[in-house]
Amino acid sequence: MAVLEIQTNDAPVLRQKAALIQEIDADLHPFIEDMFETMYEAQGIGLAAPQVGVSKRIIVIDIEKHHPEYPRIALINPVLTLTVGEELGEEGCLSLPGVRGMVRRSAMVKVEGLLPNGNKIEFDAAHLMARVLQHEIDHLNGILFTDLLRPEDQELLETGPESCEKSGDENEDSLHGNK
Ligand code: NI
Repeated sequence: MAVLEIQTNDAPVLRQKAALIQEIDADLHPFIEDMFETMYEAQGIGLAAPQVGVSKRIIVIDIEKHHPEYPRIALINPVLTLTVGEELGEEGCLSLPGVRGMVRRSAMVKVEGLLPNGNKIEFDAAHLMARVLQHEIDHLNGILFTDLLRPEDQELLETGPESCEKSGDENEDSLHGNK
């Protein structure tokens, strides 16, 4: 396994629409493990393949420490099939060091995709898990959370070191958004 280099700021790959995975081949599994390792090394809770320079539709998420109802997951070709409600919550991004903002997201989503073993999965997610899924799937479409900021929401932002993609025990409450 290896820690991969995280692409930041104006890296063109962050603005590309990532390609569908047509075939889950043997190379994909070590790459996904590298994505997890890279995410953990950066103390993140979510990572999309374009963030490590690979323009393919793969995301990894691990919020299990705070939300054991959502075991860590890697999703291939994830698609949101339903979005419900709206919730304002704080986010950051491993690709945008030092930037945080209040982002409006759907409060609940239904997502479908493929697991690394090739099995199809569909599940509902709420609050932080819904937020991270939306954030990571946006990465697959070249969208960064800063594209979604509304000036009127930003006054709610408190100062602090954590963010949506950055995890931290001491700041666990603010990872939840405003549920
Ligand atoms: Ni991000």
